[in-house]
Amino acid sequence: MQKAIFITGASSGLGKATAKLFQQKGWKVIATMRNPDKETDLAGLENVTLLQLDVTDTNSIEAAVTVAIGSDDVDVVFNNAGYGLMGSLEALTDKQILKEINTNLLGVIRITKAFIPHFRERKQGLFISTTSMGGFLGFPLHSIYHATKFGVEGWSESMSFELGLHNIGIKTIAPGGISTDFTGRSLDRSSHRAYTELEDKLFANIDRMMEAAATPEQIAEIVYEAATDNKDQVRYVAGNDANAMYARWLEIGKEDFRREIRQQFLGR
Ligand SMILES: NC(=O)c1ccc[n+]([C@@H]2O[C@H](COP(=O)([O-])OP(=O)(O)OC[C@H]3O[C@@H](n4cnc5c(N)ncnc54)[C@H](OP(=O)(O)O)[C@@H]3O)[C@@H](O)[C@H]2O)c1
Repeated sequence: MQKAIFITGASSGLGKATAKLFQQKGWKVIATMRNPDKETDLAGLENVTLLQLDVTDTNSIEAAVTVAIGSDDVDVVFNNAGYGLMGSLEALTDKQILKEINTNLLGVIRITKAFIPHFRERKQGLFISTTSMGGFLGFPLHSIYHATKFGVEGWSESMSFELGLHNIGIKTIAPGGISTDFTGRSLDRSSHRAYTELEDKLFANIDRMMEAAATPEQIAEIVYEAATDNKDQVRYVAGNDANAMYARWLEIGKEDFRREIRQQFLGR
C-alpha cells in the first residue's frame, strides 16, 4: 500500500529534498509551503500535492490538515519549517523572539496536535521534526534558536510516552550544517555594540563550519531512514559534522564541551 508523508517548509532546502526523495521512493507527498503558487520544481510531479501552510497561522494549519487527511491516510508528518535567529539577547526585539518561537517550536507543536487524532484512530503514524545539533549543544549568540531546538528535542522525548500508548512514533533529525538558504534568506540577525567582537568571531566561524556542511539530499536520506527503519529511537544525529561533534560531546561530557566552545570563541 502506498504511504503518504506530509511535509512543512517544502519550498526549499531540506523540505524540498525530502519531498523529492520520498516521491522517488514511491510515496505520496503532501508538500506544504507558505507560497505554493511560486513552486515550480515540485508542481506537476506525480503523487505530489502542494498545499498552502504557514506554521504560525492556526487557520492555515487547520485548513491544510483537513484537506490532507480528507483525501488520504497520512503515515508520516515531517515538521521541518524553521529559520535561524542570530544575535545577543540584548540585540533582539520581542517581535523577533516571538516569531522564532512561534515558527520553530509552537509551529511543530500545533501541527503535531492537529494530526494526533488521525494517527490515534489509525493506531499508527510517525512524527519527525527537524531540530539541529543546536538542539543538544549551545553556540554563542543563538540563544533563542537553541531555546526552540532544545525545546523540540525535550518535548519530543516527553511526547514519545503518551504517543507510544497509541502506537504513534516521534523522532527528531538533528543535522549540523546543511547547504541551503538557511544562512542566507532564512537567517534573521541583529547586532549590538557590546558584543561586536564575539559577533565577528562567530560570523567568521560559521563560514568555516559551513564548508563541512552536508547537502540537503544527504540529510533527506536520514529522514527516509527514520521514517522506515521501525526503530524505537527518538534522536537521529545527521551529517558528518554533527556526528563528530556529538561524539566529542559524549566523550568529554557536556561541561568540558561547553568550555571548549568558549575557548574557541572567547579564547578563555
Ligand atoms: N541549513 C542548516 O545549516 C540547518 C542546520 C540545522 C538545522 N536546520 C533546520 O532545517 C530546517 C530546514 O531548513 P533549511 O536548512 O532547509 O533552510 P531553508 O532552505 O531556508 O528552508 C526553510 C524552510 O522553512 C520555511 N518556513 C519558514 N517559516 C515558515 C512558516 N512560518 N511557515 C511555513 N514554512 C516556513 C521556509 O519557507 P519559505 O520559502 O516560505 O521562506 C523554507 O521552506 C529548519 O528547521 C532549520 O532550523 C538547518
